[in-house]
Amino acid sequence: MVSAEGIVRDNEKTLELLHRGDNEKLFAVQIFVSDPATAAKAVRKLTVHRPDLFDLNCGCSVPKVLKGGCGAALLRVPYKITAILQAMREETERPVTVKLRSGWDQNSINYLDCAGAAEQGGAAMVCLHPRTRSQGFSGRARLDDLRVLKMHCTVPVIGSGDLFSPVDALKMFQASNCDGIMYARGALGNPFIFTATKKLLRGAREAAPASARLRLETALQQLRHTVELMGEQRACKEMRKHFCYYSKGITGGAELRALAVRARSIEDYENLVERFLHQDSFT
Ligand SMILES: Cc1cc2nc3c(=O)[nH]c(=O)nc-3n(C[C@H](O)[C@H](O)[C@H](O)COP(=O)(O)O)c2cc1C
Repeated sequence: MVSAEGIVRDNEKTLELLHRGDNEKLFAVQIFVSDPATAAKAVRKLTVHRPDLFDLNCGCSVPKVLKGGCGAALLRVPYKITAILQAMREETERPVTVKLRSGWDQNSINYLDCAGAAEQGGAAMVCLHPRTRSQGFSGRARLDDLRVLKMHCTVPVIGSGDLFSPVDALKMFQASNCDGIMYARGALGNPFIFTATKKLLRGAREAAPASARLRLETALQQLRHTVELMGEQRACKEMRKHFCYYSKGITGGAELRALAVRARSIEDYENLVERFLHQDSFT
């Protein structure tokens, strides 16, 4: 997710977010924006990065984003969703899609109107996180909204919300008949969830959770990639929270987390993992 304003102004931090990994076969850019003219300019500028797909964010509930009339604020003005998508589509041949929440708050659930507005604007796909903006991440995702949306939409519908395991994904498919699912919190410290889900959906038995060794070695690999991107100091700080995610559910994970939040170098992390995997000398 990048700010369309940031793209138009060549903001350095915004451009940094467009980094594409060598192994990323498909590359989608989601913008947050409040008006069609800025959206069009941003898409025009983004074309040099050759995204396979552009997405419009109508779900973000971060106050700074909402204050600019972007993200979930667009749910209150569905006609703007149509206009922004039309403006984006005029600048690209690539598919333009949209990510919605169920509505602004409990008294204004309007995902069907918003999805209709998106279809009118030419959206090629609609993703729904079936919570309201005021819910943030609280309460449960409203799976029934997804089912109803799927019945009304003429374009593919992707479901998001409370997906923490392959079984959750299977249940979402079954309950809503949606065309795809999108992991979020469930993938933090758990990139194995994608392969495990594909396997389950193809009829295999549910996979055993990844071992502590695999999780921690993957965390180190992520750390090394992050160092390449932003240098050792910043990467080590950024990775603290990810080490916490990776160690969730591992026996002895609490001690590991307590030490990871003080790690300042790749060496600190490597020593930590090495010692953890040879528990005798840990702590
Ligand atoms: C760390 C984090 C980053 C997210 N970033 C985005 C984003 O850039 N764009 C977006 O549309 N949603 C974003 N989301 C929202 C998720 O796509 C998703 O709709 C929401 O977290 C609900 O799914 P979950 O309950 O399975 O986490 C983010 C969520 C998390 C936790």
